[in-house]
Amino acid sequence: MNQPAIQVSKTYLPPREDYHALLESVWDSQWVTNNGPLLRELERTLATRFDSDTYVVTNGTVALQLAIRSLSLTGSAITTPFSYVATTNALLWEGVDPIFVDVDPDWYCLDPTLVEAAIRPDTTAILATHVYGYPCDHTALAAIAERHGLALIYDAAHAFDVKVDGRSIVTWGSASTLSFHATKVFHTIEGGAVVAGDAELLARVDLMRSFGHTGREYLGLGINGKTSELHCGIGLLNLRQLAANRVARRDLSELYRDLLRDLPLRCLDPADFPGLEYNYAYFPIFCATNSLRESLVERLNAHNIFPRRYFEPSLNELDFLPTELRVACPVSEHASRTALCLPLYPDLDPVDVHRITSIIRETVVQWA
Ligand SMILES: Cc1ncc(COP(=O)(O)O)c(C=O)c1O
Repeated sequence: MNQPAIQVSKTYLPPREDYHALLESVWDSQWVTNNGPLLRELERTLATRFDSDTYVVTNGTVALQLAIRSLSLTGSAITTPFSYVATTNALLWEGVDPIFVDVDPDWYCLDPTLVEAAIRPDTTAILATHVYGYPCDHTALAAIAERHGLALIYDAAHAFDVKVDGRSIVTWGSASTLSFHATKVFHTIEGGAVVAGDAELLARVDLMRSFGHTGREYLGLGINGKTSELHCGIGLLNLRQLAANRVARRDLSELYRDLLRDLPLRCLDPADFPGLEYNYAYFPIFCATNSLRESLVERLNAHNIFPRRYFEPSLNELDFLPTELRVACPVSEHASRTALCLPLYPDLDPVDVHRITSIIRETVVQWA
């Protein structure tokens, strides 16, 4: 008989009774959106958690757009080709050209040694992603941004609760953006946030997420970037489970690592990153070739197991980009053809990790 499907991720949902109890307060107050009490509580809690002011918005893509707008970016931005398409799309949507610079072969984040040569006279920013939650080389990127007077935005969609030397990495740069999508380690079903240390920048984000409108005043261009009380309620309840979920993800990741250790596959290991407190958001493996990756996908799919080719394509190869922006990024292109994220979620049964790794082992051994 076929086993139940195992997807790459599974949304954690809080106990129904807890959500029902919380809904009572929303029904009683009839305050369902527009800066409600649950939004404010979530923002306060996150600000304390990150030690930096945090504005919650509709999703991680709108968070990126608001960060780009509030920093008045124009012209072009140096960015990573190894990320989710939202990173590139947010720039294009805001009329800023993405200048793709390749990633480093160790952690797959924007390679600082290649950035300066790519800066154009119209470049106003660097937009980098902490891929899989592994931190960019902030010291190097911040120095380059400073030298060239560029804004530095981090797409920290994967980096909730990632710390370096005890401090949340969403405090880095001019601004960081988060996604609270249902697939993320912390989620509000749909949601996102802008985190920044600059109060004036955040005031602009606040105004822009609310149509540029406050009271009877219409102060400038804005968008609807608000989020509802129902979404914030899910977020507040999910926060209660985060520590336990992280431990479960960590244990499953370590089990994967142990079971795959002797195979010719590359696994990223948080222990190799000095000072890192990782969130175990993903368990990516990197195959030697694209054909091995495709065989693994095929064999796992045949067993009703659905890992994800994350990220594919390399964003510099997107078909809809103007040709002049489609520069070669060999490290990212190779990674996009060989990376595979294995199923990882807190209640994934360790027995299934054994099953998944046995299928991987058989395939790799046949391949050799
Ligand atoms: C790296 C990255 N950036 C941005 C986004 C967009 O976030 P959202 O889906 O909340 O709009 C995502 C995820 O979905 C992501 O993985």
